[in-house]
Amino acid sequence: MSVHNSVRKVTTHVLYEMKLKGEKIAMLTGYDFSMARILDQAGVDIILVGDSASNVMAGFETTLPITLDNMIYHAASVVRATSRALIVVDLPFGTYQGNSKKALASAVRIMKETGASAVKLEGGEEIIDSVERILSAGIPVMGHLGLTPQAIHKFGTYVVRATDNEEADKLIKDAQKLEKTGCFGIVLEKIPATLGEKVSGMLRIPTIGIGAGNKTDGQVLVVHDMLGITQEFSPRFLRRYHNLNAEISGAVKTYIEDVRSGDFPNDREQY
Ligand code: KIV
Repeated sequence: MSVHNSVRKVTTHVLYEMKLKGEKIAMLTGYDFSMARILDQAGVDIILVGDSASNVMAGFETTLPITLDNMIYHAASVVRATSRALIVVDLPFGTYQGNSKKALASAVRIMKETGASAVKLEGGEEIIDSVERILSAGIPVMGHLGLTPQAIHKFGTYVVRATDNEEADKLIKDAQKLEKTGCFGIVLEKIPATLGEKVSGMLRIPTIGIGAGNKTDGQVLVVHDMLGITQEFSPRFLRRYHNLNAEISGAVKTYIEDVRSGDFPNDREQY
């Protein structure tokens, strides 16, 4: 029997079971009540309240400006909409790096003020103290390796990461360290497919890929990208399942015409 039928709520334990059974995990980002309700009812396993909200919801160039208060607002909206999916919330830039006490305080605010089930942090060895302290409070942590957008000013570019042996070796060590420390899963972003497969095969915990090939234990996409609401972002890994931008634009243009022509509202649409 598939875990989809045997459990109501997706937990971190369900994700381990899915990996053991070879069932792929479907994760999407979500930032607001209405979209999260659609994603949850459609059966997505994990909703990531990603700091990509900084880009797609707030219009910033990078994920750096979004605040903990902003993330809490988005996450609480998603939690209110969701009954099945596991909800993971990104700790935003500046709320956990280099200070494990601050990291725990940030994670506690997310858990208390949103009702989400887990947090996600970007990085490996360099943030391990923060990961450890958050875990010590009983808060599940997801890792994120490879292209970590909060470090964009260090990388200087959004190109594929870990293409050389040195960076690939560090990524493998970081993944093992995150697993040993107690993370329940790791996002692998924009790395060679062979490395995604290798890391996924080495770990007991599930990996969720975005541009990391099809051998990771699950996949994640930014929902605005996969639905074609955003148009300008077109990396190779992105499959667009819809062109909502064109659909919404068409509907809005028709509405404008109807208002201007006096066709809307008609006799049946008034009191
Ligand atoms: O913030 C986000 O959307 C993410 C995904 C790209 C994994 O971290």
